[in-house]
Amino acid sequence: MSDRIIAPSMLSCDFGRIAEEAQAVVEAGADWIHLDVMDGCFVPNISFGAPIVEAVRRAVDVPLDVHLMIDQPERYLEDFIDAGADYLTVHVEATRHLHRCLSHIHEYGVSRGVKAGVSLNPHTPVCAFSDVLDDIDLVLFMSVNPGFGGQKFIPQVLKKIKEFRELIANRGGDAPVVMVDGGIKPHNIGDVARVGANAFVAGSVVFGSKNYAETITALRNG
Ligand code: DX5
Ligand code: ZN
Repeated sequence: MSDRIIAPSMLSCDFGRIAEEAQAVVEAGADWIHLDVMDGCFVPNISFGAPIVEAVRRAVDVPLDVHLMIDQPERYLEDFIDAGADYLTVHVEATRHLHRCLSHIHEYGVSRGVKAGVSLNPHTPVCAFSDVLDDIDLVLFMSVNPGFGGQKFIPQVLKKIKEFRELIANRGGDAPVVMVDGGIKPHNIGDVARVGANAFVAGSVVFGSKNYAETITALRNG
């Protein structure tokens, strides 16, 4: 049994059957479901909004990890918490008021203990959020430029994760979840785990496979 959190991204599923697809990956061993929300502004693609998150919420019981790739995410935090997000992640690059966003997620989601995440594009340094670490439950390191599934893993992220692990080791207290998103496959997940990531988003490799359970097991053991 591995202690990796495997979170399939629904972006690569059959959207016409999204509830069944979510159930299928949970049955196949997924720990969390990752939901990619895109607005066509922060990223050059549009995916779906809160009603789809809510539909997936009704279909499965595992934690819903909602990744907001939208400008000014503060406008929609309450909608996604109401829809059932358990982890709600905003991009550092998308808000002028990161601390306010994180506080709002915790305050509005207090009855369910909703967790707040921060995501970094490949070019954004760790120091962009190091001063608000106490307010962060999850750090999502992008290992592709966000917007699309099926892109190639950018290996420079490995150095950044290492740097982040060193930063939090010297700090004490509870460590946030360290998640990586983009281009994760059975052949590279081991390298990412070795530098300190413990949660992994995988979209195209899972939904492009014939047997979801075999692929998720390969990600756990890779
Ligand atoms: C990209 C999204 C990812 C994406 C990952 O913008 O944030 O979650 O779906 O897909 P793969 O695993 O195919 O790179
Ligand atoms: Zn994502």
